[in-house]
Amino acid sequence: MENLDLHKLPKHIAIIMDGNGRWAQEQGQDRLFGHYEGVVSVRKVVEAATEIGIKYLTLYAFSTENWDRPETEVNGLMSLFVDTIAKEVPDLHKNNIKLHFIGNLALLPEEAQKALAAGMEQTAQNTGLELIIALSYSSRWELAEAAKKIALQVQNGLLTIDQITEATLSKNLTTSDFPDPELLIRTSGEFRISNFLLFQIAYAELYFTNTRWPNFRKKDLIDALLDYQSRERRFGKTSQQITSN
Ligand code: IPE
Ligand code: IPE
Ligand code: MG
Repeated sequence: MENLDLHKLPKHIAIIMDGNGRWAQEQGQDRLFGHYEGVVSVRKVVEAATEIGIKYLTLYAFSTENWDRPETEVNGLMSLFVDTIAKEVPDLHKNNIKLHFIGNLALLPEEAQKALAAGMEQTAQNTGLELIIALSYSSRWELAEAAKKIALQVQNGLLTIDQITEATLSKNLTTSDFPDPELLIRTSGEFRISNFLLFQIAYAELYFTNTRWPNFRKKDLIDALLDYQSRERRFGKTSQQITSN
C-alpha cells in the first residue's frame, strides 16, 4: 500500500467479479458455495477501497444473461442478495457508505426489490464511498433504455435532435450520477466485458487477473492500482503531449 501514489488514484473502479463457480468446483463444492465466499471478497474489497480513498466502486454481481442459468443457481443467488443486503447494510451505514443499485431491477423478485430499496434509503445521506451494485444489469439494455428516454424528451418537445450529444446519452444512463470508471478489473482469467458498462469504459484502463473472485483480497486490489498507476493515459494524444503538461 505504501507504494501507491495517493494523488494518482482512480475516482471510480469497476469490477467484473468472475470465477465463483470455478472456485467452488475446484474445492469439490457446489457453485453456490462459491457465491457465498464471493460475498466475503466483496466485504474485503469495500473495506480496502474505503481505506485507500476510492470514491466510487461498481461491482457487477448479476447480468441480464445470468437469468438463463439453472433455476437452482438463480434462486440461490436471489436469496443470497436479500440475506447479504439485510446483513451488511448496518455496517455499510456505519462506515458512511452510500449504496446504489443499477440494472433492470423490475425483473428481480419482489422481496429482493424491497431489500434493495431499503438499503438505498438507509444509506442515502451518507457521504463516503459510493458503492454501486449492478444487478440484472446489461449495458445494451441500459443503452436501449437511454434511447427511449431521449426519444420521449424529443417527442415531448423538451429536447431537439440537434441538442443530443454524448453528454445527453451519458445523462440518460443508469450511471448518470457517477463519473466514468478509470479502471476496470476482471477476475478469473476471462478477457471479455460481458455486456458491462460499454459506453462508460470507453477510456478505462483494463486489468485482468487469473485470481478467482473468492480469492480476491486487498492485496489484489492494490496490485491492480499499481498497474494502473504505471500506465500512461494518452486519450488519443501523443506521449510527448502528455509528458510536457
Ligand atoms: C461470477 O462467478 C458471479 C456471477 C456471474 C453471478 P461465476 O458464477 O460466473 O463463476 P464462473 O465464471 O462460472 O467460475
Ligand atoms: C459476468 O460474468 C457477469 C458477472 C460477473 C456478474 P459471467 O460469468 O456471467 O460472464 P461470461 O458468461 O463468462 O461472459
Ligand atoms: Mg463466470
